[in-house]
Amino acid sequence: MAGNPSSGTPTAKALKPKLPWKTRIFITLLSAFTDASRRSNGTINRRLISFIDFRAAANPTPVRGIRTIDVIVDPSRNLWIRLFVPSDGAGGRNLPIVVFFHGGGFAFLTADNQTYDIVCRRLARKIPAIIVSVNYRLSPETRFPAPYDDGFDTLRFIDSGGIDAVAGHLADPSSCFLAGDSAGANIAHHVGRRWAGNGGWKKVKLSGLVLIQPFFGGEERTKSEIALAGAPLVSTDRTDWLWRAFLPEGADRDHEASNVFGPKDFGELEKGFPPAIVVIGGYDPLQDRQRRYGEGLMARGKEVRILEFPESIHAFYIFPGMADGVKLVEEMGKFIWSHSKQDKEAE
Ligand SMILES: *[C@@H]1O[C@H](CO)[C@@H](O)[C@H](O)[C@H]1NC(C)=O
Ligand SMILES: *[C@@H]1O[C@H](CO)[C@@H](O)[C@H](O)[C@H]1NC(C)=O
Repeated sequence: MAGNPSSGTPTAKALKPKLPWKTRIFITLLSAFTDASRRSNGTINRRLISFIDFRAAANPTPVRGIRTIDVIVDPSRNLWIRLFVPSDGAGGRNLPIVVFFHGGGFAFLTADNQTYDIVCRRLARKIPAIIVSVNYRLSPETRFPAPYDDGFDTLRFIDSGGIDAVAGHLADPSSCFLAGDSAGANIAHHVGRRWAGNGGWKKVKLSGLVLIQPFFGGEERTKSEIALAGAPLVSTDRTDWLWRAFLPEGADRDHEASNVFGPKDFGELEKGFPPAIVVIGGYDPLQDRQRRYGEGLMARGKEVRILEFPESIHAFYIFPGMADGVKLVEEMGKFIWSHSKQDKEAE
């Protein structure tokens, strides 16, 4: 494992990250709207959010080699996925499948949000892989464990041939990965556990997890949460609100969904839980929890790689023009291909 567990927390004099002015304005606007939409009674003003919520339609015509197709998984709960398919495949090899969960504190954003559409196109092209972005249900309208159910049912859907008509000839479901950022990475962890704890898979094999700045929580404040309490996007007052909106009514942040490996997480980690890469940013208040999570995986005998970006804020890689974002996607590609079946067979 690279990275010293205590190396990342910035000192008090260096709490202001350097950000391009465009990114700064974008974050300020986004924060203003999401803050204004969060009501004190725990609900979200979706009408207000819709003013800034630009959507991208699926486009079956390849753009820079990627076509996108929306597929319904379960109409009864409006669960659908957006597929990002490299039209040329990967030079004769079948492509790994990356099931992706967007961030947004379990409460915001969608698989067709324009920003995430661009992120997933880039992942599909650069890794390269078939990206399956899950439009899971949001809190507080649906709480824990709805997004975990939606992720797990998406894996079952892929296992029973649900995406074969669209991407079957290019895909290798025995090299399947879960990836996500922030709340999406939290979902990837829990869905990974469920995959490992449930049998009956015909073709889907999880080969790894890519957890980008996972959103974990707990009652006790960590050092980095205190030092970076007013950080962009994930200040503690925002994250406290988001946990209240997502966790079961009356639960505290030590709930097993948020405080993974914490005081209320009694279950053993499943034997088949796949290898993981955990991405951490030096200006992210959640960083101490993310390192603890990595240590928790290691203590349970799991293969884990910690990838640190000391200069980066939470969600850095969704903003265009951040140098670390390019590096992250490169590292994702290396991790995914080195853990996928075809690469191993070629060795
Ligand atoms: C929360 O507040 C909004 C706006 O004041 C109101 O429309 C809504 O019905 C309230 N919801 C609950 C569950 O109290
Ligand atoms: C979705 O993406 C756009 C950028 O294209 C962004 O401005 C917007 O705020 C996003 N939606 C939400 C709900 O954050």
